[in-house]
Amino acid sequence: MANGERIFIAIKPDGFQRSLVGEIIKRFEQKGFRLIAMKLIQASEDLLKEHYIHLKDRPFFDGLVKYMQSGAVVAMVWEGLNVVKTGRVMLGETNPPDSKPGTIRGDFCIQVGRNIIHGNDSVESAEKEIGLWFQPEEMVYYKSCSQSWIYDE
Ligand code: RTP
Ligand code: MG
Repeated sequence: MANGERIFIAIKPDGFQRSLVGEIIKRFEQKGFRLIAMKLIQASEDLLKEHYIHLKDRPFFDGLVKYMQSGAVVAMVWEGLNVVKTGRVMLGETNPPDSKPGTIRGDFCIQVGRNIIHGNDSVESAEKEIGLWFQPEEMVYYKSCSQSWIYDE
């Protein structure tokens, strides 16, 4: 089902420390996406190295892993039609100065090394990262009472 597309979103330790958890969740909720999994964790070095394995040769890799490990991460799975494409637009660009006002990074952060949120750039990476961060039994499946007010079919 197209409405069943999923994205892995993580509020990074800076987003958590800056009390932006509620604001970020609010944006996804109000858009109409469904939250199907969420947990607050301090991610292990192993998990983060695997999560960012595609960046392992970049000069900022060690600093990135350290930053992500430095505090609480709010890991979430959101579901909905085109949630990956729309979610990336809602996040803004990787580099905050390139992000438009109205996006999460455009509104709440300044530097690329403290860009407060992570979200997948493809459906394939979403499925891979959901599998990395969550067990299948951590997903909650429920019927949304607002479904027919968000989708016309
Ligand atoms: P993310 O994976 O966190 O959603 O970010 P993204 O796709 O927009 O960017 P990506 O290229 O995947 O980079 C992952 C994260 O690495 C940090 N970064 N630092 N210092 C730097 O030049 C630099 N470049 C990237 C950012 O935290 C970025 O979100
Ligand atoms: Mg990325």
